[in-house]
Amino acid sequence: MPAIEEIATFCKRKGFVYPSSEIYGGLSGFWDFGPLGAELKGNLKREFWKTFVHQRDDIVGIDGSIVSHPGIWKASGHVDSFVDVLVDCKKCGSRYRADHLLEDTLKMHTEGMTPEKMGETLRARNIRCQKCKSELGEPRRFNLMFTTNVGPIQDSSSLSYLRPETAQLIFANFKNVFETTRVKLPFGIAQMGKAFRNEISPRDFLFRMREFEQMEIEYFIHPQDKGCPWVDSVAGTELLVYSEGMQKSGEKEKKMSIRHALDGVIIRNSWHAYWLASMFNWFVSLGANPEKFRIRQHLREELSHYSSDTWDLEYNFPFGWKELAGVADRGDFDLRQHEKFSKQDLSVFDETSKSKVVPHVVCEPSLGVERAFLVFLFDSYVFDEKRENIVLRLHPKLSPVKAGVFPLVNKDGLPEKAREIYSELKQDYNIFYDQGGSIGRRYARQDEIGTPICITVDYDTLSDGSVTVRDRDTTEQKRVKISELPSLLSRALKGERIF
Ligand code: GLY
Repeated sequence: MPAIEEIATFCKRKGFVYPSSEIYGGLSGFWDFGPLGAELKGNLKREFWKTFVHQRDDIVGIDGSIVSHPGIWKASGHVDSFVDVLVDCKKCGSRYRADHLLEDTLKMHTEGMTPEKMGETLRARNIRCQKCKSELGEPRRFNLMFTTNVGPIQDSSSLSYLRPETAQLIFANFKNVFETTRVKLPFGIAQMGKAFRNEISPRDFLFRMREFEQMEIEYFIHPQDKGCPWVDSVAGTELLVYSEGMQKSGEKEKKMSIRHALDGVIIRNSWHAYWLASMFNWFVSLGANPEKFRIRQHLREELSHYSSDTWDLEYNFPFGWKELAGVADRGDFDLRQHEKFSKQDLSVFDETSKSKVVPHVVCEPSLGVERAFLVFLFDSYVFDEKRENIVLRLHPKLSPVKAGVFPLVNKDGLPEKAREIYSELKQDYNIFYDQGGSIGRRYARQDEIGTPICITVDYDTLSDGSVTVRDRDTTEQKRVKISELPSLLSRALKGERIF
């Protein structure tokens, strides 16, 4: 697997991702998506929405505001509890997340540790500034929310926050959605969009950013719900499972089916099992390598303030197993908190039980868009020895450019014919026209950015109306009539084999 630095360099070189504000020296934790990155990110978000909203009957989507009433963040617990522990160097002022520093230098678990205990451990083990080796100060709590002021008066009365998660906008709109759509329990509300966290030490390229995007679903059930009715559809899904018990007894993760994990009460809740498998299957269906995923249960000390059980879908990055998606059981914590703080009744009438209930959020699949972006890059990026260049084997649904169109030579009417085909296909897809350099160089450029097929116009095209279509992964070529291109492209872009 390439190192994260190699992927970052590749992304900059090809126009996927640039450091934000680069001409001013950059701004740590912020990244800009270039022309190809914007396409790839848009494609993966569209696939998420298609799978989890459009193709289901039980989930609807919203798009909430980034700045909202500060009461939302008081009710949610973020004002009081959304903190990390910060420690800084007494001499050079370098700042560290105390838990990361302990994990990196001493390879220890820090879940549930107080700032005082972290300070004691850092002193006892003589951990010093990683840059200048001087003494560190006292660790202290630091709230991760970015603040802003709404309106012209800049005081505490106008204080608000950039949302640190999209979830709360779903809870705050829960009753509106229930009353204005035809959803009934169990059902979900999905949302994709920006979230902001003032991370102490952003790192690992797009992995830990200060401004990022989430794709979240809050799944609401009746408080006496009997379990997920569709769990059998994922029962055969096999993946690595790493429960709290396994972690505490020092075992390694084990490969097992969802059925086995439920029968052995390793995963207690069928809703949890269903959503973890659904998220995993979504990644795999778009070309991710199933062997690099596992599900890991949070240790009790690690649980967020709102969750009674959380499982993360993790991916084995070059810098270790890390969270891609969190699937938390939030119970009725959020709706109850919003009832308390807003003084509104958020209960709804459930047709099946003929009673008013405050639903539970049994599951909150919450997925980082940029983390998914990295996974698809890592799992598609290969250096092809024979071709002597990078081939980005992205699933065609994710490819930023869907086809390249080239004239074999730049004369005798070939560019005009190629442009005609390009203009036609461009009505439906993002297509790239290229007449620069040798045909081999043009293929290589498209391979490197993941374009699944290339179409070449040559002298035969002018006489018999056929073109050469070339496959990115195998480099196989075949002749196809121009009139067949739209249907061929449509099949290829679904991931069907066309050769
Ligand atoms: N809504 C869960 C999270 O943002 O982590």
